[in-house]
Amino acid sequence: MDAVTFRFTVDGMEVQATEGQSVIQACDAAGIYIPRLCHHPDLEPAGNCRVCTCNINGRNGAACVTPAVHGMVVESNTPQLTGDRRAIIEMLFVEGDHPCPYCVASGDCELQALGYRLGMVAPAQPYQQPGRKIDATHPDIYLDHDRCILCSRCIRASRMEDGKTVFGFEGRGIKMRLNVDAQGGLGETQMAAIDKAASVCPVGCIVIKRGSYRIPNGSRRFDKSPIGSDIEAKRTSRKS
Ligand code: SF4
Ligand code: SF4
Ligand code: FES
Repeated sequence: MDAVTFRFTVDGMEVQATEGQSVIQACDAAGIYIPRLCHHPDLEPAGNCRVCTCNINGRNGAACVTPAVHGMVVESNTPQLTGDRRAIIEMLFVEGDHPCPYCVASGDCELQALGYRLGMVAPAQPYQQPGRKIDATHPDIYLDHDRCILCSRCIRASRMEDGKTVFGFEGRGIKMRLNVDAQGGLGETQMAAIDKAASVCPVGCIVIKRGSYRIPNGSRRFDKSPIGSDIEAKRTSRKS
């Protein structure tokens, strides 16, 4: 039986959706980019970063965990929502340690790329530079906790894709931190460099050793085109 399809609007544009899709999934398929950080197309949604928040039928909601419904009216590209998203990105920048020019992830980092896309100039809050330790105990991977934005992608990937429990959170609120399921660090876990969890980090927290500069600066994903342009290209190609 064919899947049920229906329509709704996003910023005045009509989008066709299939039953079971979230707002963000339907928009991705239609070539409309909604900024996001914790969402990853291969993982179950978590709805914890709030970057994808849209106005949905008059109320704010996270597009990655809101099911698309016939006739719904979604606003994503408004000055207010862009400002709210920029404020979240700024908060993440100051909460950790993010000296982009010196970072192995520069040009391939979703946080940095969103900062550019959303017009972040300099955060209004002071940098906290928490000085969390780097975990270099694994032979193939290191963890730079100062770059972690607590998106939970690695936790979901490890549990649902790799069948392991390498990552988890400890603490609550501003004390929440990523931890691993071994006292001696990542090197004592079952983590392998080929695991899905090793490839989903949006920033430079989970880094494969000896692989960092295989693609040189200036030739990386977001050096070439802004974040979201791959999704928006679907709409452009349909028009032509
Ligand atoms: S993880 Fe991203 S935002 Fe942080 S320093 Fe590296 S490039 Fe910059
Ligand atoms: S290590 Fe990366 S994927 Fe895991 S929670 Fe931190 S930022 Fe997200
Ligand atoms: S991308 Fe939707 S809440 Fe993070």
